[in-house]
This record gives sequence, structure tokens and C-alpha cells, in this order.
Amino acid sequence: MNRILITGGGGFIGSHAAAYFASEGNKVIVFDNLSRWQFLKSNERRKEIALYNWNYLKKFDNVRFIKGDIRKKQEIEKAAEKVNAIIHTAAQAAVTYSFEDRRADFEINALGTLNVLEAARKSKEKPAVIYCSTNKVYGENVNKIGVEEKNGRYVFPTKYSRGIPEDFPIDGCGHTPYGCSKLAGDLYVQDYGKRGEVNSAIFRMGCIYGTRQFGSEDQGWVAHFVISAIKEKPITIYGDGKQVRDVLYVTDLINLFKKFLDRREEYFGEVFNVGGGPDNTLSLLELLRMLEEKIGKKPTVNYSDWRPSDQKVYVSNISKVNRKLGWKPKVGVEEGVDNLISFFKENKDILEKI
Ligand SMILES: NC(=O)c1ccc[n+]([C@@H]2O[C@H](COP(=O)([O-])OP(=O)(O)OC[C@H]3O[C@@H](n4cnc5c(N)ncnc54)[C@H](O)[C@@H]3O)[C@@H](O)[C@H]2O)c1
Repeated sequence: MNRILITGGGGFIGSHAAAYFASEGNKVIVFDNLSRWQFLKSNERRKEIALYNWNYLKKFDNVRFIKGDIRKKQEIEKAAEKVNAIIHTAAQAAVTYSFEDRRADFEINALGTLNVLEAARKSKEKPAVIYCSTNKVYGENVNKIGVEEKNGRYVFPTKYSRGIPEDFPIDGCGHTPYGCSKLAGDLYVQDYGKRGEVNSAIFRMGCIYGTRQFGSEDQGWVAHFVISAIKEKPITIYGDGKQVRDVLYVTDLINLFKKFLDRREEYFGEVFNVGGGPDNTLSLLELLRMLEEKIGKKPTVNYSDWRPSDQKVYVSNISKVNRKLGWKPKVGVEEGVDNLISFFKENKDILEKI
């Protein structure tokens, strides 16, 4: 049995991790300051949406809740004292907000991660750490690859047809404040790992989607499109909609967390690119067409200028994580999108509040 601390456990990925590990009989501590709603520009959503996942977890007797802040060293150190694993998902996770309050973004993502690592290093239990990093650490270098257009969508040229690998350069390019703060955390986790101080894995993730994700324009585009299409609200496409992402269903990600925790002793600050990979990609226009078919209504779309630093294509090369951890995604795009549609149709009360 594991004793797992999940920072950001009240958020989308953290709450899925908490629900899974609790249902497997582990002891779980959910540590969150419930601040997510503050980072969203789309303020029509209410605070209670941010509490949904926290409240969802209350049905588990083996989940303990701590309302705490990773920026506060003492709070996180105390929470980590008796655990043997930390899944660090807490973050300011919106690129848009990172431009608005760069200090808060830095303090949460960079300093907060350092605090988590220090908590792990100081603990007698020597907990392993999972760090939820992001493909945004590769910054503008991804756009320098150039793209080709095939069948109404952008694709990488042949050299990167399997996606972006872990040794792709991160230097000599523009990032975003979010990209910088997450990269700082990513480098610290590598450093503590290479020094042999903390067993850890860094998962540089692309787009993760799934139930209980209350996506908005700022974060979580697949859920945002699904919610808007069901509610018949207009969707703004920044650019031409041919941009492509690999998408990974959240339960596949949690399955990867489990695989790493089972073999944690082998890994010290190892970096893995994680996503749906080349077999699970979607362009924005393709998702719109899929939703029209599945929901039976054509989503209303407005077009606007490209957003700064938006990547035209991002696909993760998942060969390394497949080779080293024996992991690959199981849930295909059609199945994942169906699950999301069913979730929102079955939870009309929450849909009304978004
Ligand atoms: N969802 C994705 O597609 C995606 C892609 C790449 C990386 N990530 C990373 O995965 C992690 C989880 O993302 P998510 O989509 O679940 O985000 P989320 O916003 O749903 O969850 C983050 C949680 O962290 C909490 N939090 C924020 N600041 C905190 C603080 N100072 N102290 C304690 N808790 C705090 C929030 O209240 C929220 O519940 C983040 O680190 C994010 O950068 C997510």
C-alpha cells in the first residue's frame, strides 16, 4: 500500500489520480489551495466549479484533505512527512494567466516545485516524486521545425513524424512565462534526481483530456469545445483551426503514474515525453466535425488572430516512455470524446454553472 500526497489534488489530473489510487486501497492526501478559478479569464464560471473535484473525492474514506499552499514551505513539508510518493500536479496551469501575473505564476510553478522537492528530500520516508511538466518547455523551437499541410491539417515534416523527443532543444528560443516557470520546476526535479536525492520522473505532457475537466479558452481545449458545443455557445478559433495536437485521455496518464510508482527505484529525474502520440492526434477543425456528428448540431465558430506562441503542431514522441515503462495509451480519441460528451450530458447541473 502506498501513502500518496497529491498536490493540486482538487484539480483535474490530481483528482483523477486521487480517485484511482484511493480506489486501489492506498492512503491518499489531497493538498490544494482551491485557487484554480482565480487563474481563469473566463470569469463566468463560478467558484463552485473549482470545488467540484475536491467534493467528488469526499466519497473515499481513505482520502484526507489539506487546504494548503505549495508556496508555503512549512505546509508542504508537514504534509509530506509520512508519505512514500508525491504526485505533484499543483500549478498555475494557464498560459494566458501567466502573462497577467508573472510573479504568481513563478511563485507557484517554480518556487512551489522547489518546496515540494525540499519536502521530499527532507522526509525520512524518501518519497518518490512525479512532476507534471509540459510540452511548453520546448517553447518556440517547436515552431521553428516548420509544418506542412496535408488533408486540411498541419503536420510535422518527416524527421519529426513520430513527434517531439526528449532531447529536443529547449534553449535559444522564446517561451512564455508559464513555459519558463514550468521549465524551472522541470530542471529542479532533474537536478534533485541526478544528484540521487529524490527518485523522480518528469512527464512532459501534451494535451490531457477527460471527465471532470472544466476546460475553458485558457486551458483544456477538448473539454472547452465539448462544453460549448453541447451548450450551443460560440467557440473562438485562434488561427485557422488546422493546428494539430496529440491528445491523451486522463485514465491513461494515471495508469502511467502507477507504472512509474511500481518501478520508482530505477528512476532519478528521468524525463519522458507523454501524450497520445502520433496515433491519437486531432486538429481543431476535426474535433468540431466530430462534435457535429456526435451531438447532432453544428458548433458556432468565430475566428480570431493566432495567439502568441501557439504551436501549429505538437505531437509527443512516446517511444521512450513506451520502451522504459512499458506504457502506451489505450483510450482512442473517439472513445475519449464520447466519454466526455456523456459526462456533461449526464451532469446537466454542473453544465449549467459553467
Ligand atoms: N491538463 C493538461 O492538459 C496539462 C498539460 C500539460 C501539463 N499539465 C500540468 O499538469 C498539472 C495539472 O494540470 P490540471 O489540468 O489538472 O490543472 P488544474 O488547474 O485542474 O489543477 C491544478 C490544481 O492546483 C491547485 N493549485 C494551484 N496553485 C496552488 C498552490 N499554490 N498550492 C496548492 N494547490 C494549488 C489548483 O487549485 C488546482 O486544483 C499542472 O502542473 C499542469 O501544468 C496539464
